[in-house]
Amino acid sequence: MEIRAISQDMDTNTIYCADNKEILKTLPAESVDLVITSPPYFQQRDYGGGGIGNEKTIDEYIENVMIVFRECIRVVKNTGAIVFNIGDKYIDGNLLLAPYRFALQVQNEKLARLINELTWVKINPTPKQDPKKLIPATEPFFIFAKSNDYYFNKDAFLEYRDVCFNGKKKTNGNDIGKRYFDLIEASNLSKDQKELARRELQSVILEVKQGKIDSFRMKINGIHALPYGGQGGGRLTQLLTKGFTIIKIYGHFMRKDVIESTVETIKGNIHPAVYPEFIVQELIKLLTKEDALVLDPFLGSGTTAIAAKRLNRNYIGIEIHYEYAEYAERRLREQEENIQSGGFEFIL
Ligand SMILES: C[S@@+](CC[C@H](N)C(=O)[O-])C[C@H]1O[C@@H](n2cnc3c(N)ncnc32)[C@H](O)[C@@H]1O
Repeated sequence: MEIRAISQDMDTNTIYCADNKEILKTLPAESVDLVITSPPYFQQRDYGGGGIGNEKTIDEYIENVMIVFRECIRVVKNTGAIVFNIGDKYIDGNLLLAPYRFALQVQNEKLARLINELTWVKINPTPKQDPKKLIPATEPFFIFAKSNDYYFNKDAFLEYRDVCFNGKKKTNGNDIGKRYFDLIEASNLSKDQKELARRELQSVILEVKQGKIDSFRMKINGIHALPYGGQGGGRLTQLLTKGFTIIKIYGHFMRKDVIESTVETIKGNIHPAVYPEFIVQELIKLLTKEDALVLDPFLGSGTTAIAAKRLNRNYIGIEIHYEYAEYAERRLREQEENIQSGGFEFIL
């Protein structure tokens, strides 16, 4: 691993200290499995050198981010994905919706499909001093794919949560659902409704026995309370028309488009805007196999490369400022030493 100025070769496990536009154009088309990155936010901080983020207008900013995004689309494989994390900005008390302007531009240009907006919920957001605003505590990670053939290992995302779920006692004995047959008989449902209720109950019991679902609950009109207020929705309709509803409970952890993490405060980190290694780790597991190539064109302190390396993936990082590129290289070297001395652990 080394820090380079500009190189013509596509060397993996390399940090380039250069303007990303210069390096990206040297990378072959369809050579990268995953781009994951966070460009400087609009008018957030001055990294020096007049780079992205210091534009006078939001439109100029979006166009500069798009120049990099278009190159990312070119270098990513058909099976690959591109993840951009962008923060928002208030100007004169008005929220610009900068991340969404960017995502809409990608859609307007039909460059990629937006698969998910993964919302990072900040456990410890920076407390802002404005007494007439709530504290902003979320940021999007937009997950784009180049085609429908994108690699997606849903089970690997937050997989440690499955372990918590599977720890609980299973209830698939022989008398499962018996009390519901009794309740159907005792209910005021019509003959046809009772017949349908028994059929659906038998089918859901089979799903439990086959291990397709963990368990279920049944609600029968006249026996169980109706859902109330805005919570009613489709379940209320089913109760009123069919006379019953069945709620399936899946044994595995439900993969939602939300991830909670603290704002990174790494002791000694010289970079002012580090994103959470935990989120990057989970996205790399979700979107790549081992040995894949992960690219971060705005590497900063090297978080993406660190996570890729931990997970046995390869990386290319591009950072315009030498002090950050050099710092990222140092973090990687230290991690390598930790791995060699057996000190490696997943972040939970
Ligand atoms: C938001 S920070 C990324 C932080 C990174 N995710 C981390 O965890 O440390 C954006 C980085 O992009 C760098 N940058 C800005 N314009 C660049 C360009 N044209 N080419 C390469 N890097 C650039 C900045 O110096 C800054 O370090």
